[in-house]
Amino acid sequence: METAGETSANGVLTISDLTVAIHGKEILRGVDIALRPGQVHGLAGESGSGKTMTGLAVLGLLPHGARTTGRIELAGRDLLSLPAKELNAVRGAEVAMVFQDPATSLHPMLSVGRQLTEHMRHHLRLGRREARERAIDLMRKVRIPGPEEAIDRYPHQFSGGMRQRIAIAVALACSPKVLIADEPTTALDVTVQAGILRLLRGLCDDLGLAVLLVTHDLGVMSAVADEVSVMKDGLVVETGPRGQVLREPRHAYTRALLDALPENAGAETTGTEPSEGEPA
Ligand SMILES: Nc1ncnc2c1ncn2[C@@H]1O[C@H](COP(=O)(O)OP(=O)(O)O)[C@@H](O)[C@H]1O
Ligand SMILES: [Mg+2]
Repeated sequence: METAGETSANGVLTISDLTVAIHGKEILRGVDIALRPGQVHGLAGESGSGKTMTGLAVLGLLPHGARTTGRIELAGRDLLSLPAKELNAVRGAEVAMVFQDPATSLHPMLSVGRQLTEHMRHHLRLGRREARERAIDLMRKVRIPGPEEAIDRYPHQFSGGMRQRIAIAVALACSPKVLIADEPTTALDVTVQAGILRLLRGLCDDLGLAVLLVTHDLGVMSAVADEVSVMKDGLVVETGPRGQVLREPRHAYTRALLDALPENAGAETTGTEPSEGEPA
């Protein structure tokens, strides 16, 4: 919260004082997060702290019965007060999301090409040929080998890591300004995780995309995030540039999270000593 005010000025997406209550239970209690173009904003915190709910709130996909206050500002509009129809147009086109399990974003019965082009044809009103070319281009961007052939395959014909790349490509189909990636590497082998993180980092740099990278893993965060926010019990307890948060955590809670890292050597040349840590 300390620096949220400073970053909101040039933010592409600014969440201010967001509260969410579901059936009387306060899930989010005044969340402030500002995303900037070309930056990865890491959102960390233990399970149940409200990370996923924050992402779902941005997309207007909260569970039924959720009551929301605050502002979620995208390009001068408050998403929380948009009529359903306008929010629908924003979702997928301007803000997109990928989930932990690529199966959540991908349809098992439709070819990859169909899933990529469907979005474009619907939101961008592209013709068949144009959409297919753009789809192949997107697959190239997310580094799927042999995109011209791969486009006609089905999700199950790809490995988990490749499926997550495809889910990211689908999310990018309409050139969103903001990508919310909720634990995108949690279900993947460690060796595959780094590739996905590098991809997200590269997309930020190349496309000027703003990414909210949700993870319970500060190690993941330290690898790619520019800014880090740490959540606890529905509140952002700490936010700031990665180096500062990881090197000089102000909050006991952030320190505890850092201490829990198996190899907190990931945080560059920080003051934190790498722990002994047994091999996993
Ligand atoms: N569908 C739901 N209805 C009511 N409460 C929910 C629902 N899903 C999650 N919650 C509650 O919301 C809180 C935040 O959950 P979540 O955002 O999923 O946490 P995180 O992603 O940080 O693990 C938790 O207390 C959880 O129990
Ligand atoms: Mg979650």
